[in-house]
Amino acid sequence: MMNDEVTIDPWGSSQSTDYARIIEKFGLSSMEGVKLEKPSRLHRRGVVFAHRELDIVLESKRSGNPFGVLTGLMPSGRMHLGHSMVIDQVKWFQEQGGDVTIAVADLESTATRGISLSEGREIATREYVANYAALGLDPEKTSVYFQSERNVVQKLGFQLGKRTNLSELEAIYGFDGSTNLAHVQAPLVQAGDILHPQLDDYGGLRPIVVPVGIDQDPHLRLTRGLAAKTNWFNVSDAKMGLQVGVSVQEENASVMGVEPSGRVNKEKQKQVFAKIVEAIAGLGYSDIISNPKHGTVNIPSATSRDKGPIKMALLTLERSLGGMGLLAPSSTYHRFAVGMTGDKMSSSKPKTTLFLGDDIATAEKKIKKSFSGGQATIEEHRRLGGDPDKDVSYQYMMYFFEEDDSFLEEINQGYRAGKILAGEMKQMCIERATEWLSDLAEKRDETQHLVSKFFE
Ligand code: TRP
Repeated sequence: MMNDEVTIDPWGSSQSTDYARIIEKFGLSSMEGVKLEKPSRLHRRGVVFAHRELDIVLESKRSGNPFGVLTGLMPSGRMHLGHSMVIDQVKWFQEQGGDVTIAVADLESTATRGISLSEGREIATREYVANYAALGLDPEKTSVYFQSERNVVQKLGFQLGKRTNLSELEAIYGFDGSTNLAHVQAPLVQAGDILHPQLDDYGGLRPIVVPVGIDQDPHLRLTRGLAAKTNWFNVSDAKMGLQVGVSVQEENASVMGVEPSGRVNKEKQKQVFAKIVEAIAGLGYSDIISNPKHGTVNIPSATSRDKGPIKMALLTLERSLGGMGLLAPSSTYHRFAVGMTGDKMSSSKPKTTLFLGDDIATAEKKIKKSFSGGQATIEEHRRLGGDPDKDVSYQYMMYFFEEDDSFLEEINQGYRAGKILAGEMKQMCIERATEWLSDLAEKRDETQHLVSKFFE
């Protein structure tokens, strides 16, 4: 038995990279079987390697229904290549028809990084949103907001707090008695960020996908669990078909016909079950078996694939009865590009990455000094070949700078065979990074006037 732990920590500085085991341990779904119509560079190259319930988003798109994308930014430090990966994916979903919401985590950065709200606002605008515009996000279809200014986000965070406790947060995040409470509040506010676009004032019930680095999965696990706990009706696999279970809670007891004494008002209960049956029948199922006594409704002819539409119909019903009707968010997960020095990329360690605002000379210097997958001497390199999986220059072309798959394949093999030297790989990367960064700087100037539109 292997007993070395696979861990994921949104605040940690190290990170497991055994992706197969991460998928297994945390119950993610692999992207391998997922068919995308126009996969992006990061999809084609397996950088986006896992997801949770992406199907429900793709299904919405296929059937012409709306879906949204959400991400957040921590306004501290400078925007680097790692951050741009998320925006690449947001942009891809936007091109597929998704509406985009972006949270500025100014409350989180005040509490955990000591950045004032006005500083946070300034950093978010100058450093992040300016680059979002330059990277090609559509300001008409993107809405950026500040946590501190969106009351409903904080309110949701507070309400959802009721559905969890310290033990669960300890289990998910490894908190203990010495954990600062700002770290306890931040994930709850973030759950508010992730769930609020479904509220009627922000676009209404629709699937929301959150593309993140794998280190952020704990937040998604928490949020998905919280949403599920608020749900009045839960859909699960049954021996035959699907089963809807009714969850009686403090909030809905009266609607469900459960009186304070615990006595069941059969008439009220019957009405609720009739509405469940009606909602499901509306989707075209005819054999529906209602069993109020057991608190269940069965749909023997439904398959796992029908879960999405049935969930949506029941959430709509829940809302009409006064519930929040929150759909658990979907998510996708990307691998991290290696840091340039071999450590994790970090804003606070400028040598580990390229910043989007780096000038050409700085970028060139960083790439020249970056970790290479070459051998110690040219003679050895020619004989043994290099390792593109460890080579920062190759990796950065694959993650960021090179669109052409066949060219990449060619240099990958050339490197392994020792035909391409480490210095030559660096040179190719420098050329592409130079072009990429100067293009971006030009676009930043051109799109400067659009920045304020992202906040409207
Ligand atoms: N906590 C995230 C970070 O450290 C920022 C963030 C806030 C976020 N709310 C979010 C990310 C919602 C994804 C979704 O970068």
